[in-house]
Amino acid sequence: MSELEFKGEVAVVTGAGIGIGFEICRSLALEGAQVILNDLDELLAESAAEKIRSEGGVCQALGGDASDPKFAASLIGHAVERFGSIHIAIANAGITTYGAFLDYTVEEFQKLVSLNLQGSFFLAQAAALHMKTQNTGGRMLFMSSVTGHQSHPYLVPYGMTKGALRMLAKGLVGELSQYAITVNAISPGAVLTERTTGDDPTFEDGWCGTIPMGRVATVQDIANAALFLVSDKASHITGQTLLVDGGWTATSQVPKLQIPED
Ligand SMILES: NC(=O)c1ccc[n+]([C@@H]2O[C@H](COP(=O)([O-])OP(=O)(O)OC[C@H]3O[C@@H](n4cnc5c(N)ncnc54)[C@H](O)[C@@H]3O)[C@@H](O)[C@H]2O)c1
Repeated sequence: MSELEFKGEVAVVTGAGIGIGFEICRSLALEGAQVILNDLDELLAESAAEKIRSEGGVCQALGGDASDPKFAASLIGHAVERFGSIHIAIANAGITTYGAFLDYTVEEFQKLVSLNLQGSFFLAQAAALHMKTQNTGGRMLFMSSVTGHQSHPYLVPYGMTKGALRMLAKGLVGELSQYAITVNAISPGAVLTERTTGDDPTFEDGWCGTIPMGRVATVQDIANAALFLVSDKASHITGQTLLVDGGWTATSQVPKLQIPED
């Protein structure tokens, strides 16, 4: 029988009560990792972790706000306390706020930057400090987006944060490679999740016609890419952003969507 790929490894994933983060936690846990699953919604985090445990995975919930640097550090500290070490840190939590550039408010901007950038940056810092002390190397992953590669109307501040995450992955190479820590990002295209279909019932149909592969991504498509980038198979890949978009950025047609109003 083949050994589970992540046996003995400890992972932290933020914003993982549903959607992409949940599927990453589930896939890691079913491949043997011990996982700390975070979500802002404590009850959701607990029920998500319970689902993974019911499938045989090792997963513990920790509710809290991933935009708060102190909480991000405590997430990593908790993983080390509970499971003895930290190998994989995935800054998945991110909010998507739609809004016209000419109307965008300072409050909306700060909320977006606080989670998408500050939260990701300080989760990585806390993880790197532990990985350096452990001297075991490590894997970091940021969740970018196709909107961080191409212009996308009404998602400009969001796209700006996602573009910055790609640069964060690249930038950290210069300081973290000496500790055998790899730092990469994934840029999903349109992904079918509870949120995307909830925001816009036409989401799937709207995108299908503009994606060369003819379908939107599943959360499993994104989790597959994530597991590769945090595995030993990717130990010589760092500073990279992997687009998982069915070819969308090769053509970049923006579909006509119903933009949700606040
Ligand atoms: N779904 C897509 O089509 C898509 C496309 C490109 C990029 N992304 C990125 O992938 C990531 C996951 O997207 P998704 O659609 O699966 O997520 P989502 O919007 O469904 O949110 C997942 C979870 O994050 C939690 N969350 C929100 N704010 C939080 C906070 N401050 N701290 C901790 N948890 C918080 C929510 O409670 C929710 O349960 C995000 O960074 C998103 O920007 C998603």
